Amino acid sequence: MLIQEIIRRKRDGQTLDRQMLDLMMRGIADNSIGDAQIGAFAMAIYLNGMAHDEAVALTESIRDSGQVMRWDGLDRAAPVLDKHSTGGVGDLTSLVLGPWIAACGGHVPMVSGRGLGHTGGTLDKLESIPGYDVAPADDSFRRLVSDVGIAIIGQTGSLAPADKRLYGVRDVTATVESIPLIVASILGKKLACGLGTLVMDVKVGSGAFMPTPAASRELADAIAAIGCGAGTRTSVLLTDMNQPLADCAGNALEVSEALRLLRGEGQDSRLYPVTKALAVEMLLQSGMAHDADDAQRRLDHALDSGEALERFSRMVHGLGGPHDLAQRAEHYLTAAPVVIDLEADRSGVIQTIDTRQLGLGVVELGGGRRNPGDAIDHRVGLSRIAEIGRKVAPGQPLLRIHAASRSDAEAVTRRLRAAFTLGDAPVESPPLIHATVSPNPRAPMSRDVLSHDLTSHQEDLS
Ligand code: URA
Repeated sequence: MLIQEIIRRKRDGQTLDRQMLDLMMRGIADNSIGDAQIGAFAMAIYLNGMAHDEAVALTESIRDSGQVMRWDGLDRAAPVLDKHSTGGVGDLTSLVLGPWIAACGGHVPMVSGRGLGHTGGTLDKLESIPGYDVAPADDSFRRLVSDVGIAIIGQTGSLAPADKRLYGVRDVTATVESIPLIVASILGKKLACGLGTLVMDVKVGSGAFMPTPAASRELADAIAAIGCGAGTRTSVLLTDMNQPLADCAGNALEVSEALRLLRGEGQDSRLYPVTKALAVEMLLQSGMAHDADDAQRRLDHALDSGEALERFSRMVHGLGGPHDLAQRAEHYLTAAPVVIDLEADRSGVIQTIDTRQLGLGVVELGGGRRNPGDAIDHRVGLSRIAEIGRKVAPGQPLLRIHAASRSDAEAVTRRLRAAFTLGDAPVESPPLIHATVSPNPRAPMSRDVLSHDLTSHQEDLS
């Protein structure tokens, strides 16, 4: 079939089948289809949407456009599972969750990304650790997943190669904001890692990828239904990004915070309950725990016994980092030379935080990229970020800036201060978990799973 006939079909509102989508994705991956046809294809989907089966087929075609990992040699009782987030600020859950699940007996082949826009990236955080190699040889990655239970690495060229080109064209043809394209892009890459279970963390709020709570919810429903349709048990937690999840944002600062949690400290943070809720869902959906109480007990034991921290240390060392990072973190995680507090200029209660602006502040300090290949400064970022509902007096800090120079710190103060809205009324912190969308843990996965087959516990999506 001619590629232009596939595009015509989609342009005219008809559905595409797996064969047509495979032809398209293969041609995108091997460069036999040009950017003009990719752009037209993406726009036809953007304008007409996709039926459920069609979106499942697109996800599978992207997944199968390159290598799909197989884990046949692993212990059958130890499931292969992962978590993925739509990205946020101060969201370091992956650094804690991966080793925590490994300590409970799971295998977590975590292929992560770099910072995108205002959001931080797990790979950039891990590269704060001297020697950490995010692109190890395939057999080292497999060995670590098999022996330690966790390895966090970067996207390889052989995993879902169609997505890389398709995403690049979408980015410059105003076709990023399409639910079926977003879902197929996210899940195509994740499912190529050979997962039995995936828990997605879709963020809601001022620092979220999706612009409104309703759009986050629509994405969550689509991810759960399409992931299950493609044969991977997929749940979604909608979690809050109306303020940074941790009270810090920035690469080395977030690795320090992850170590603190893995040591069993920081349980009064917002980060801890969200990470634990994601972990509970992973244990339940993968069948590693019978019920939520069982999952909590296993997770508490993995943390209290030091096993989760041990798995993190073994992963870091196995990927070229120091063997004693956990014991000598201050030695390895370089601090920024300039640290200054940003003080409130009036009294009041913090009503809202524009989380996106805080993330952009980190980028401006050098902790993220303005252009794709830019080097980043792992030392810089924000800490002690005051939370919504906190009462501040003039001169009291809203946050602490970690910068390469005093002038860099001064350059971001206006943006950071403007991110906080102060008022007189008392305010409650937004809920941490807005809703959960899960398949029935015992139901078989099939293409026919639709949103209405999924259980939804909605707390609040305002
Ligand atoms: N992240 C992805 O990987 N793909 C998208 O389309 C959007 C966000």
